[in-house]
Amino acid sequence: MKKIVSIIGARPQFIKHAPVSLALSKHFRSVSIHTGQHYDEKMSAIFFNELQIARPEHLLDIGKATLHGAQTALMLQQIEAILLQESPDAVLVYGDTNSTLAGALAAVKLRIPVIHIEAGLRSFNREMPEEVNRVMTDHVSRLLFAPTEAAIDNLAAEGITEGVHRTGDVMCDTLNMMRPFLQRPLEGDYFFATLHRPYNTDDPQRLAKILDVMNRLPSPVVFPIHPRTANNMNRWGAGTDAYSNIRFVDPVGYGDCLSYQSAARTVITDSGGIQKEAYMLHVPCITVRSETEWVETLEGGCNTLVFEDLESILALAGRSSQPVFRDLYGDGHASEQITDIIATQLQKA
Ligand code: UD1
Ligand code: UDP
Repeated sequence: MKKIVSIIGARPQFIKHAPVSLALSKHFRSVSIHTGQHYDEKMSAIFFNELQIARPEHLLDIGKATLHGAQTALMLQQIEAILLQESPDAVLVYGDTNSTLAGALAAVKLRIPVIHIEAGLRSFNREMPEEVNRVMTDHVSRLLFAPTEAAIDNLAAEGITEGVHRTGDVMCDTLNMMRPFLQRPLEGDYFFATLHRPYNTDDPQRLAKILDVMNRLPSPVVFPIHPRTANNMNRWGAGTDAYSNIRFVDPVGYGDCLSYQSAARTVITDSGGIQKEAYMLHVPCITVRSETEWVETLEGGCNTLVFEDLESILALAGRSSQPVFRDLYGDGHASEQITDIIATQLQKA
């Protein structure tokens, strides 16, 4: 049986890995490495328990490295040692985090084929660490699974056409697994918000402005606070008392996160995954960014970008018209589709 090592390390990667690891284990000996990028119980263990993901065979020790170079280097060095020991037939990476890049680099330097799930996404903003991670990962990958037409076009524009496959989005698979269990978490009208991008959360004035706008929305805002945002606010001594309309809560589990989104009036976020989930749950979204990789969500006003004019969130959130959503991200079987293709391709190798 061929062996695949998957690299996971950040919250959205645990969620993507849940259906993929199930599908992988039917065809391959599946081994995973948790890089330790996210380590709090509510950012990591909660998802392994809730989604019954097999415990990673390897957990790296990267301490609490915050500088990106050091974080990526520590992962790269330790992943390389494990790959030498495991000697897999391929290494699978997800998305665009530092864990993704470290896994892809470690593999390619050992001449192990790299498989990239969520390939071809681009923001065209090189200020974002994720954009650099994605571009570099795509350019060293042997098999690239692109979830949208735009992603296929982006890869082609960079000259990448070999090994590219258009499949559904694996986050649609995970969402479908959880859909029967979703429940309205709160009575009444409310908004649901998350923020963790450095450009929204590392500048005290900008974060305060976003919170101030959310505080003036006509209904309460449920706001699970990402550790990056919480740590920054603690460091600045920025209290939450001034924002009586915002319910600050710890990061929530996956089922709770979907439940909160599904019954919300509007979702306000800078998360990539949450933009897509809001779309799949047919809930309008306001994305606090100047661009998105998920450009198809913008059609028909299902998702709206807001960056400079933060006050416009107030008018957008008050909209009564219901946008029309389409099925953009597959039928919930992307993981099986992907593993079938990997099996065929590795057989040929
Ligand atoms: C990372 C990814 C981002 C992804 C996000 C998902 C990169 C460059 N960024 O951003 O693409 O959208 O994860 O959530 O890979 N921290 C904790 N506890 C934890 C995890 C983090 O306290 O469990 C704190 C640490 O102080 C850390 C900071 O949050 O320095 C930022 O974490 P990091 O993983 O570097 O970046 P994220 O902002 O989480
Ligand atoms: N999520 C969660 N609990 C939270 C916030 C997010 O389970 O408190 C889930 C969310 O449903 C989605 C994923 O985490 O599946 C998105 O991760 P995040 O926003 O951290 O990263 P991004 O998608 O922007 O890379």
